[in-house]
Amino acid sequence: MKSVRDLLLAGKRVLVRVDFNVPMDDQGQITDDIRIRMALPTLRYVLEQGGKLVVCSHMGRPKGQRVEKFSLAPIAEYLAGLIGRPVRLAPDCVGPETEAMVMAMAAGEVILLENLRFHKQETDNDPEFSAQLARLAEIYVNDAFAVSHRAHASVAGVTVHVAERGAGFLLQTEIDFFDKAITHPVRPLVALVGGAKVSSKLGALQNMLDRVDKMIIGGAMANTFLKSLGLNVGESKVEDDLLDTAREFMATARSRGVKVYLPVDVVAADRFAADAVIKNVTCQDIPEGWMALDIGPASVILFKEALADARTIVWNGPMGAFEMDAFARGTMALCRAVAESHALSVTGGGDSNAAVKKSGESDRISYMSTGGGAFLQLMEGKSLPGVDSLGDGGGA
Ligand code: 3PG
Repeated sequence: MKSVRDLLLAGKRVLVRVDFNVPMDDQGQITDDIRIRMALPTLRYVLEQGGKLVVCSHMGRPKGQRVEKFSLAPIAEYLAGLIGRPVRLAPDCVGPETEAMVMAMAAGEVILLENLRFHKQETDNDPEFSAQLARLAEIYVNDAFAVSHRAHASVAGVTVHVAERGAGFLLQTEIDFFDKAITHPVRPLVALVGGAKVSSKLGALQNMLDRVDKMIIGGAMANTFLKSLGLNVGESKVEDDLLDTAREFMATARSRGVKVYLPVDVVAADRFAADAVIKNVTCQDIPEGWMALDIGPASVILFKEALADARTIVWNGPMGAFEMDAFARGTMALCRAVAESHALSVTGGGDSNAAVKKSGESDRISYMSTGGGAFLQLMEGKSLPGVDSLGDGGGA
């Protein structure tokens, strides 16, 4: 796989796929710009090298329709402020008007194409649409790690139609950190996995079992494991169809000598609400009708002990419903523990990164991945279409 550094960009039309699918508030203000900032080194490099910069991204899931709230207009303005030069928004991502605009570009100019997902052919990885996109460029660069798990036209299909392609700096950084953290980790490697559902992380849990020395499981998904061990978890969220799977998982972990840590106590609430009545109880004592919404203080101590000798930590998913302060303590304590650790620490997924931000510890985490689904897919041990298609021959 070539890097953008290996490509001769001067005077060329360079199509850079980024992931500017950033959260916005009701007024159209960007509430977290990290994905935009992380793509800047590649965008600046293309301009410094004298390229004509054509940027493309998706936003939201408009399902092939032109939906104004998913227009990239606010992003064009925001990006212009960050790179200090005008960014023109094309009326569409393909079509004669956009093509004419791009063909008339001078070196150093920037055009942002309108939302790729205004066309259903993008998510269908349609070959004709891919070819249309490719016509805009002489060189294609993928710097959109966060969407590289999608075999979409601008991620995969386009690569077979371009003469030259390569990885942007962000994509390369993500892959390098993943390699250091999971493929070739300094041991002990500890995975910290949380979040709502076992079902959405089962592949990742199973694959990580082959790689880690210890695994810590928290968040609502821990309830399924606790129930599979015979504990009464009251009204806590549980995936009853996965109880056998959870038991098998624990047995496999034992047979492989991987230590799995589950909560020993929880913050129980009488309902799922910020002002619920709460109490700390052991996992054996969750009152009938109550639910576990955070790990308790004894679990925090246990989990911190498990992290103490880690040389590498991979974290995906919060320990509780941290968006409500009453249930944030466990996740915040673990954020501090990971931040204080001397281990290489890599977090991924929107919720984990939001939790780290809330804790104010972002600067002390080695790397916060911009990927959610893409990060999880790598944790599952699968490759990413967006990366595979940068190899010889591309990928339709
Ligand atoms: C993300 O936010 O995870 C990426 O932008 C991918 O978005 P998608 O899940 O809508 O494909």
